[in-house]
Amino acid sequence: MRADAFAKINLGLRVGSRREDGYHPVHGFFQSIGWSDRIWLEFCDEDVAETDSGDEILAGLGNFAWRAAVAVRDAAGSDRAMGLRLRKEIPVAAGLGGGSADAAAALGLAGLLFGVPSSDLENLAAGIGSDVPFCLRGGLALVEGRGEIVHPRRPAGGYTVGIVVPPIELATPAVFDRWDELGEPRGREIAASTLPPSRRGEESPANDLYPAAVSLSPALDDWRAEIEERWSRPVHMSGSGPALYGFFVDRDEAVEAVAIAPVGARAAHAAEPVWQGWSALGDETTDE
Ligand code: C5P
Repeated sequence: MRADAFAKINLGLRVGSRREDGYHPVHGFFQSIGWSDRIWLEFCDEDVAETDSGDEILAGLGNFAWRAAVAVRDAAGSDRAMGLRLRKEIPVAAGLGGGSADAAAALGLAGLLFGVPSSDLENLAAGIGSDVPFCLRGGLALVEGRGEIVHPRRPAGGYTVGIVVPPIELATPAVFDRWDELGEPRGREIAASTLPPSRRGEESPANDLYPAAVSLSPALDDWRAEIEERWSRPVHMSGSGPALYGFFVDRDEAVEAVAIAPVGARAAHAAEPVWQGWSALGDETTDE
């Protein structure tokens, strides 16, 4: 079986003081977008996990997906061997939730394979990572707690996001640590008039982690300023960064915008909101 695992962007992220368990309470809208990895999972003779690029999954990339599949197998009380393959498209360590999306899709596929009900998958999700509960459900949701409280919202689209990933890698724990050290700064407020109509009645897309990300990597602010200049609109950071995005009501305009992203970006992509976090694609006769 195979599935697509969709990236997410944060339409604003408010952060509260670190809790006793080491996590920070968050409050923000998460939106799945049409930029996806693909995962294959099936029974095999022995456990194998690999990426298309040949990387050993257990050593790093995709580790989340494998851990998720194993958690489901354990919950099912099975010891059947399985094979997992991952094709990465979503940039890693970018603030786009790629690893969490892979884990959510792996939970979903393993749930189908081992006959584990979705309510059990939800319980396993938070144990894999803070963004996995959202990715399991996907679409648009208000997310709270450390990420495990997901309040689904009705689809509200009508825009395309232009996304640029600067050539910077930011580790989420380091960004949260710096946010503490900086004295819990607030993200910059954005004028509602610059947002697509479906986002105007909502909270500002201010991201409290932005000052911390810039403190760790000052070049990020230069990238933001340069992209704002080229796109003539505010540009926002997703998650703990460094992915930057802007809203476009017109899809063609978003496609043109990513084509004029500054040279040297890790990736640039135009994507629409999607209304699921992962989608099973059923059986296949070919690899694609
Ligand atoms: O849950 P996850 O493994 O994705 O979190 C990675 C790290 O990011 C945590 O160990 C913590 O340092 C930080 N984090 C946080 N508050 C959150 C989510 C993550 O401080 N809500």
